[in-house]
Amino acid sequence: MSNFVHIPVLLKAAVDGLNVCPGKVFIDGTAGGGGHTQEILKRGGKVLAIDCDTDAIEHLRDVFKNEKMVKIVKGNFSKIGQIVRENGFFPVDGVLFDLGFSSYQIDEAGRGFSFRKDEKIDMRMDSDTTLTAFDIVNTWSKDALYELFSKVGEEHDAQKIADEIVFVRKNGNIEISRELGDIVKKVKKEYGGMMHPATKVFQALRITVNNELENLKTGLFEGVSVLRKNGRFGVISFHSLEDRIVKREFLSFEKNGIGRIITKKPITADDKEIENNVRSRSAKLRFFEIV
Ligand SMILES: C[S@@+](CC[C@H](N)C(=O)[O-])C[C@H]1O[C@@H](n2cnc3c(N)ncnc32)[C@H](O)[C@@H]1O
Repeated sequence: MSNFVHIPVLLKAAVDGLNVCPGKVFIDGTAGGGGHTQEILKRGGKVLAIDCDTDAIEHLRDVFKNEKMVKIVKGNFSKIGQIVRENGFFPVDGVLFDLGFSSYQIDEAGRGFSFRKDEKIDMRMDSDTTLTAFDIVNTWSKDALYELFSKVGEEHDAQKIADEIVFVRKNGNIEISRELGDIVKKVKKEYGGMMHPATKVFQALRITVNNELENLKTGLFEGVSVLRKNGRFGVISFHSLEDRIVKREFLSFEKNGIGRIITKKPITADDKEIENNVRSRSAKLRFFEIV
């Protein structure tokens, strides 16, 4: 897939933190464009590269077609325990989750993630799942939309946006991402920030369609269960809902004597990385180590 573009975020810090050395075995639970996998391979590690997106898997198979130290599997990291065992990788020395979406998924995949494009609002990372953003926007009740935008999107104008969506869809389905973005923009006309006014609404839809928060909680639990002693778990998150879950679950693992938190404060991108890759601005990397 020649148009598959993604610049890996916090590449050095993430791979340094995994303590990669020849002979060790790692899981890249969100392999995407393969940037982190590539770096682990370069340092002599063996990798089980997992992604739930068929396009990403196709891309990874192409990039690593001559590479013997990587195995590529389509799957969800919430099932990591099963995937690792089925593929003969248990136990492992490190697990990495680089959460969210690749630039390819947002900009190229045509799945309606961007309010700047005329694409059908689908928003599934994994085409084998059934719920789409189109279903939510066009069939959920006003109250359910309000709950979604306020709780998952942390959107202050959730009620007004839910009202407007229900009003507009009386005249026909809302199908296109730019159209949805414009509906939100119209409601939030006072908005003066740097962010597009529909950012939080789109984020809430993406998170729900892809069951991101539940998958993360299960994936963290499954991830620690496949690591051997001194094994490291690194997670890069991109918004506060995710980071809160990672912080809370790592604390709970520590309290239960499973291991220790390595990063008292999350690692973030420096100015140079942010300048080169604006996506890295919100990245937070945390590490946990099994005892
Ligand atoms: C930020 S990108 C990862 C980029 C990758 N680290 C790189 O350097 O190219 C996130 C990837 O994780 C995948 N993903 C997100 N949630 C997932 C899940 N629950 N299970 C498996 N893959 C997931 C997405 O499809 C996407 O390809």
